[in-house]
Amino acid sequence: MQSMLCSRNVGGTPLSARNYRAPIICYTQRRQAVQQPYLARKMIQSYPLLAHTSSTRLCSYSAEKEAIFRGFYCNTETAVVSELAQSEGQRLGIQNDDWFYGEFSFEAITSLLQTINPKEGEVFLDLGSGMGKAVLAAALTQPFSECRGVEFLPAVHAYAEKAAEMYDASSKAAQGTLESSSGGESVWPRHCPQVKLEVGDFRAVDMTTADVIYCFATCFSRDVVDYLDMSFTVLKPGTRVLMASKALTCPDLRPWDPPVVQVEMSHTGGTLPVFVYERI
Ligand SMILES: C[S@@+](CC[C@H](N)C(=O)[O-])C[C@H]1O[C@@H](n2cnc3c(N)ncnc32)[C@H](O)[C@@H]1O
Repeated sequence: MQSMLCSRNVGGTPLSARNYRAPIICYTQRRQAVQQPYLARKMIQSYPLLAHTSSTRLCSYSAEKEAIFRGFYCNTETAVVSELAQSEGQRLGIQNDDWFYGEFSFEAITSLLQTINPKEGEVFLDLGSGMGKAVLAAALTQPFSECRGVEFLPAVHAYAEKAAEMYDASSKAAQGTLESSSGGESVWPRHCPQVKLEVGDFRAVDMTTADVIYCFATCFSRDVVDYLDMSFTVLKPGTRVLMASKALTCPDLRPWDPPVVQVEMSHTGGTLPVFVYERI
């Protein structure tokens, strides 16, 4: 049983990094509340919290979609990929925390994306896409036209490529079935988002075509976060930015409502704050 606890900005107070009294969405599972009280409480205490309210399960999540998603990663242990990321960093002589591997659960990422109202035809971009889990979760659950990801470590990206191949094959098969049927119930939409995953440094990526940028920045160095903060000035107006663990100061970004969301991690069961912004 999942709970989505949220509070809204009361009275239309303008939101800014300084004055916001964060209407935080706290995304948590009951079992996690039992198993992870310390981490969850610590995270929540780190940010102002007005109140928790209603409990909802968001519509774009479905157990069937999650089963398809799990099928893309059935032989992939997150812990193994975490270790692989560390050894790849060593092999490439670039040992630092930037290569730390972490991810949110499928349901958590789905709910997180719902908070920024994805619209039909928009482009999703994951900076540091790892195994491509956020990209494929976005493709399976949201009305994007394209879901992109860029990952620096080739060995980690190899898992993303395999998963993307499975996504392509399954979505094509589903399209074929949908076109030859009279359009009954299907978990697949009529037009599946295109998935594009590449190896590279996200600092060389054109971000101006993205409508939603997602970045699991927990272990990114200050330099990398400063770089992103600076480069987000080029985003087109209306682009939403989701930054796990790291708040930004870019003057061209305004905090979303809610400006901070607590999100569950799939491999530890703990939660992390995600800072949400919109390009002005
Ligand atoms: C915490 S993982 C997140 C994985 C993925 N975004 C998800 O949520 O499922 C962060 C990833 O960013 C990658 N990374 C770090 N710096 C990068 C850079 N400059 N360019 C591309 N990828 C980078 C790391 O190798 C790591 O796989």
